[in-house]
Amino acid sequence: MVKSIGVLTSGGDAPGMNAAVRAVVRTAIAKGLKVYGIERGYNGLINGDINELNERDVSDIIHLGGTVLYTARCPEFRYREGVLKAKEKCIEAGLDGIVVIGGDGSFRGAGDLSAEGIPCVGIPGTIDNDVACTDYTIGYDTANNTAVSMIDKLRDTSESHDRCSVVEVMGRNAGYIAVNAGVASGAIYTLVPEVPYSLDEICEKMLKARELGKMHFVVVVSEGCEDSISIAKTIQEKTGIDTRATIFGHVQRGGSPTVMDRVVATKMGVHAVEMLAKGIGNRVVAMKDNKIVDYDIQEALAMKKQFDTELYEIANRLSF
Ligand code: ADP
Ligand code: F6P
Repeated sequence: MVKSIGVLTSGGDAPGMNAAVRAVVRTAIAKGLKVYGIERGYNGLINGDINELNERDVSDIIHLGGTVLYTARCPEFRYREGVLKAKEKCIEAGLDGIVVIGGDGSFRGAGDLSAEGIPCVGIPGTIDNDVACTDYTIGYDTANNTAVSMIDKLRDTSESHDRCSVVEVMGRNAGYIAVNAGVASGAIYTLVPEVPYSLDEICEKMLKARELGKMHFVVVVSEGCEDSISIAKTIQEKTGIDTRATIFGHVQRGGSPTVMDRVVATKMGVHAVEMLAKGIGNRVVAMKDNKIVDYDIQEALAMKKQFDTELYEIANRLSF
């Protein structure tokens, strides 16, 4: 019989995590469960930073970026000793299950803790959208919009100066943010780690576009490619076009979540509690074809995500 559950956020923060926490807390209470917030990811579980939450504790957070539970990377949790310490704390605090909001690393930890007898359900939260089992991760839409709105600002200055702006967006080893930002901003070229590219070809394309009258350019580079500052240098050397590199960095992780992120986070939070309330663990919540589903954690981690090469080709084909 499930009486109490915990919720934590782990790995890099993502806008929309708070909306998921709110949904978890209020769904659990509506089901007659006690619910506890665990601070700073798995660190809080190991150290016992576990506090009971009520409905009001999660009011006024749905629109906030970051995570009110704080987040961390917890190296200790990668080892069985760390997982066993966390298990002891769960037993001490009377937790019958945990909702883990994070990415693949966090789900590995959730799988390990489930295997030790504490049912865990993962919710995908990362701006990178690099979780294979789901079409969508919480934070992705906000990060895409942040990247595009920053590119819009850069265009103003690069247009005024007839320059090229090389912009580096986040995504770790995945080019999902880059390809969306590239399409939505009409970048002359988008570079992602999933597809080989040639800087010579990019420069030739820019010079051809210049001949046709294009005076300013945006090149979007995913952080998983080579260094954007050296790409900018090469472009300037090969084309003679005045070029600047801008690394957007952690700004992409912040800000108020979009409607999409708030709604998906809410649906996923509800689904996770529905499972835990039935005593079901070792699952990851996912979005497939616009529906909320769930998968076994190990099966989910073994899945491979297909990069949208069609959209990538469209991005680079339509730009002139
Ligand atoms: P993400 O969840 O965004 O992929 P990380 O890779 O940083 O982020 O993982 C978050 C946390 O999940 C780590 O700090 C660690 O506590 C836990 N974790 C990561 N990898 C493993 C693993 N192989 N086994 C168990 N726990 C892990
Ligand atoms: O996973 C989210 C992310 O922002 C990646 O896009 C990026 O590579 C990484 O985290 C940065 O991590 P940190 O916050 O440790 O610098």
